[in-house]
Amino acid sequence: MKTLILSSSLSPKSRSFLLCQAVNAALSGQSIQIDFVDLRDYDLAPVHRSKTADMERLTEKVKEADNIIIGMGVHCYSINDGLKIVLDTCFGDATNKFFGIVCAAGGEKSYLSTMHLTQICMNEWRMIQLPRVIYATGQDFVNDAIANPDLKERIGIFAKEFYTIGQKLLAE
Ligand SMILES: Cc1cc2nc3c(=O)[nH]c(=O)nc-3n(C[C@H](O)[C@H](O)[C@H](O)COP(=O)(O)O)c2cc1C
Repeated sequence: MKTLILSSSLSPKSRSFLLCQAVNAALSGQSIQIDFVDLRDYDLAPVHRSKTADMERLTEKVKEADNIIIGMGVHCYSINDGLKIVLDTCFGDATNKFFGIVCAAGGEKSYLSTMHLTQICMNEWRMIQLPRVIYATGQDFVNDAIANPDLKERIGIFAKEFYTIGQKLLAE
Protein backbone atom coordinates (compact mmCIF):
# COMPACT_ATOMS: atom_id res chain seq x y z
CA MET A 1 0.00 0.00 0.00
CA LYS A 2 1.30 3.45 -0.93
CA THR A 3 0.67 6.11 1.71
CA LEU A 4 1.38 9.79 1.29
CA ILE A 5 2.02 11.62 4.57
CA LEU A 6 1.53 15.30 3.85
CA SER A 7 2.83 17.57 6.59
CA SER A 8 1.29 20.84 5.45
CA SER A 9 2.40 23.37 8.05
CA LEU A 10 4.92 25.95 6.88
CA SER A 11 5.94 26.84 10.42
CA PRO A 12 9.67 26.34 11.18
CA LYS A 13 8.60 25.00 14.61
CA SER A 14 5.67 22.97 13.36
CA ARG A 15 4.07 20.63 15.88
CA SER A 16 1.85 18.92 13.33
CA PHE A 17 5.09 17.98 11.55
CA LEU A 18 6.20 16.23 14.77
CA LEU A 19 2.86 14.40 14.85
CA CYS A 20 3.31 13.33 11.21
CA GLN A 21 6.80 12.07 12.02
CA ALA A 22 5.41 10.06 14.95
CA VAL A 23 2.70 8.52 12.75
CA ASN A 24 5.37 7.70 10.16
CA ALA A 25 7.41 5.92 12.84
CA ALA A 26 4.33 4.06 14.12
CA LEU A 27 3.63 2.77 10.61
CA SER A 28 7.15 1.47 10.06
CA GLY A 29 7.48 -2.29 9.95
CA GLN A 30 4.20 -2.68 8.06
CA SER A 31 4.14 -3.59 4.37
CA ILE A 32 3.63 0.00 3.42
CA GLN A 33 5.47 2.36 1.12
CA ILE A 34 5.45 5.81 2.68
CA ASP A 35 6.09 9.01 0.79
CA PHE A 36 6.65 11.74 3.39
CA VAL A 37 6.14 15.30 2.20
CA ASP A 38 7.25 18.22 4.34
CA LEU A 39 5.54 21.17 2.66
CA ARG A 40 8.17 23.56 4.02
CA ASP A 41 10.49 22.13 1.34
CA TYR A 42 8.04 22.97 -1.45
CA ASP A 43 7.72 26.15 -3.45
CA LEU A 44 4.00 27.05 -3.44
CA ALA A 45 1.91 29.59 -5.33
CA PRO A 46 -1.77 30.49 -4.75
CA VAL A 47 -4.43 29.06 -7.02
CA HIS A 48 -4.62 31.82 -9.65
CA ARG A 49 -0.86 32.04 -10.11
CA SER A 50 1.17 29.61 -12.23
CA LYS A 51 1.68 26.20 -10.69
CA THR A 52 5.30 25.68 -9.60
CA ALA A 53 7.36 22.58 -10.50
CA ASP A 54 7.06 21.48 -6.85
CA MET A 55 3.27 21.72 -7.07
CA GLU A 56 3.30 19.58 -10.24
CA ARG A 57 5.44 17.06 -8.34
CA LEU A 58 3.03 17.04 -5.42
CA THR A 59 0.04 16.62 -7.75
CA GLU A 60 1.71 13.43 -9.06
CA LYS A 61 2.34 12.20 -5.52
CA VAL A 62 -1.33 12.64 -4.65
CA LYS A 63 -2.29 10.76 -7.80
CA GLU A 64 0.11 7.87 -7.10
CA ALA A 65 -0.88 7.42 -3.44
CA ASP A 66 -3.43 4.80 -2.41
CA ASN A 67 -4.27 6.86 0.64
CA ILE A 68 -3.20 10.05 2.39
CA ILE A 69 -2.46 11.19 5.94
CA ILE A 70 -2.78 14.95 6.20
CA GLY A 71 -1.04 16.95 8.91
CA MET A 72 -2.53 20.38 9.60
CA GLY A 73 -2.24 23.24 12.04
CA VAL A 74 -5.36 25.10 13.14
CA HIS A 75 -5.54 28.65 11.80
CA CYS A 76 -8.54 30.76 12.82
CA TYR A 77 -10.64 27.66 13.61
CA SER A 78 -9.89 26.21 10.20
CA ILE A 79 -7.10 24.69 8.12
CA ASN A 80 -3.70 26.30 7.68
CA ASP A 81 -2.78 28.37 4.64
CA GLY A 82 -0.31 25.98 2.96
CA LEU A 83 -2.82 23.16 3.13
CA LYS A 84 -5.54 25.29 1.52
CA ILE A 85 -3.22 26.03 -1.40
CA VAL A 86 -2.41 22.34 -1.85
CA LEU A 87 -6.09 21.34 -1.70
CA ASP A 88 -6.97 24.03 -4.26
CA THR A 89 -4.18 23.11 -6.64
CA CYS A 90 -2.80 19.58 -6.17
CA PHE A 91 -5.70 17.35 -5.08
CA GLY A 92 -7.43 16.88 -8.44
CA ASP A 93 -6.65 13.15 -8.43
CA ALA A 94 -7.52 12.46 -4.80
CA THR A 95 -11.00 11.20 -5.70
CA ASN A 96 -12.28 8.32 -3.55
CA LYS A 97 -9.04 8.01 -1.61
CA PHE A 98 -8.97 7.04 2.06
CA PHE A 99 -7.45 9.70 4.34
CA GLY A 100 -6.63 10.52 7.95
CA ILE A 101 -6.15 13.81 9.80
CA VAL A 102 -3.38 14.70 12.23
CA CYS A 103 -3.83 18.14 13.78
CA ALA A 104 -1.92 20.55 16.02
CA ALA A 105 -3.71 23.45 17.67
CA GLY A 106 -2.93 26.13 20.21
CA GLY A 107 -5.79 25.16 22.53
CA GLU A 108 -8.37 22.49 23.30
CA LYS A 109 -11.40 24.43 22.07
CA SER A 110 -10.59 24.31 18.35
CA TYR A 111 -11.02 20.58 17.88
CA LEU A 112 -13.92 20.99 15.44
CA SER A 113 -11.62 22.87 13.05
CA THR A 114 -10.61 19.58 11.44
CA MET A 115 -14.21 19.32 10.20
CA HIS A 116 -13.39 21.90 7.53
CA LEU A 117 -10.83 19.49 6.09
CA THR A 118 -13.34 16.65 6.37
CA GLN A 119 -15.94 18.70 4.49
CA ILE A 120 -13.55 19.69 1.72
CA CYS A 121 -12.24 16.16 1.16
CA MET A 122 -15.66 14.51 1.32
CA ASN A 123 -17.63 17.07 -0.68
CA GLU A 124 -15.01 17.83 -3.29
CA TRP A 125 -13.48 14.40 -3.91
CA ARG A 126 -15.74 11.87 -2.12
CA MET A 127 -12.78 10.87 0.04
CA ILE A 128 -13.35 8.49 2.95
CA GLN A 129 -11.99 9.50 6.35
CA LEU A 130 -10.62 7.33 9.15
CA PRO A 131 -13.07 8.07 11.98
CA ARG A 132 -10.29 8.98 14.38
CA VAL A 133 -8.40 12.28 14.41
CA ILE A 134 -5.12 12.95 16.15
CA TYR A 135 -5.61 16.31 17.87
CA ALA A 136 -2.85 17.81 19.99
CA THR A 137 -2.33 21.14 21.73
CA GLY A 138 0.74 23.02 22.89
CA GLN A 139 0.46 21.30 26.27
CA ASP A 140 1.21 17.92 24.71
CA PHE A 141 4.76 18.99 23.79
CA VAL A 142 7.90 19.78 25.76
CA ASN A 143 11.04 21.09 24.04
CA ASP A 144 9.81 20.31 20.53
CA ALA A 145 8.95 16.70 21.39
CA ILE A 146 5.71 14.87 22.13
CA ALA A 147 5.53 14.55 25.91
CA ASN A 148 2.00 13.31 26.60
CA PRO A 149 1.91 9.48 26.90
CA ASP A 150 -1.81 9.44 26.11
CA LEU A 151 -1.13 11.23 22.82
CA LYS A 152 1.60 8.71 21.99
CA GLU A 153 -0.88 5.90 22.60
CA ARG A 154 -3.50 7.57 20.38
CA ILE A 155 -0.92 7.93 17.61
CA GLY A 156 -0.24 4.19 17.81
CA ILE A 157 -3.95 3.37 17.57
CA PHE A 158 -4.41 5.83 14.70
CA ALA A 159 -1.54 4.22 12.74
CA LYS A 160 -2.83 0.71 13.37
CA GLU A 161 -6.37 1.54 12.31
CA PHE A 162 -5.24 3.53 9.28
CA TYR A 163 -3.16 0.61 8.08
CA THR A 164 -5.84 -2.03 8.74
CA ILE A 165 -8.70 -0.13 7.10
CA GLY A 166 -6.45 1.15 4.29
CA GLN A 167 -5.51 -2.43 3.42
CA LYS A 168 -9.14 -3.60 3.53
CA LEU A 169 -10.28 -0.82 1.22
CA LEU A 170 -7.56 -1.75 -1.29
CA ALA A 171 -8.69 -5.38 -1.23
CA GLU A 172 -12.25 -4.39 -2.25
C1 LIG B 1 -2.65 32.51 11.98
C2 LIG B 1 -2.85 31.56 13.12
C3 LIG B 1 -4.12 31.28 13.59
C4 LIG B 1 -4.32 30.39 14.65
N1 LIG B 1 -5.59 30.10 15.05
C5 LIG B 1 -5.79 29.18 16.02
C6 LIG B 1 -7.11 28.82 16.41
O1 LIG B 1 -8.11 29.29 15.87
N2 LIG B 1 -7.26 27.88 17.38
C7 LIG B 1 -6.18 27.29 18.00
O2 LIG B 1 -6.37 26.44 18.88
N3 LIG B 1 -4.93 27.61 17.65
C8 LIG B 1 -4.70 28.53 16.67
N4 LIG B 1 -3.42 28.84 16.29
C9 LIG B 1 -2.29 28.14 16.92
C10 LIG B 1 -1.81 26.97 16.06
O3 LIG B 1 -2.88 26.08 15.77
C11 LIG B 1 -0.69 26.20 16.74
O4 LIG B 1 0.43 27.07 16.80
C12 LIG B 1 -0.31 24.91 16.04
O5 LIG B 1 0.85 24.39 16.66
C13 LIG B 1 -0.10 25.13 14.56
O6 LIG B 1 0.35 23.95 13.92
P1 LIG B 1 1.87 23.86 13.43
O7 LIG B 1 2.73 24.02 14.68
O8 LIG B 1 2.01 22.52 12.83
O9 LIG B 1 2.10 24.97 12.45
C14 LIG B 1 -3.21 29.75 15.26
C15 LIG B 1 -1.90 30.03 14.79
C16 LIG B 1 -1.73 30.92 13.73
C17 LIG B 1 -0.33 31.19 13.23
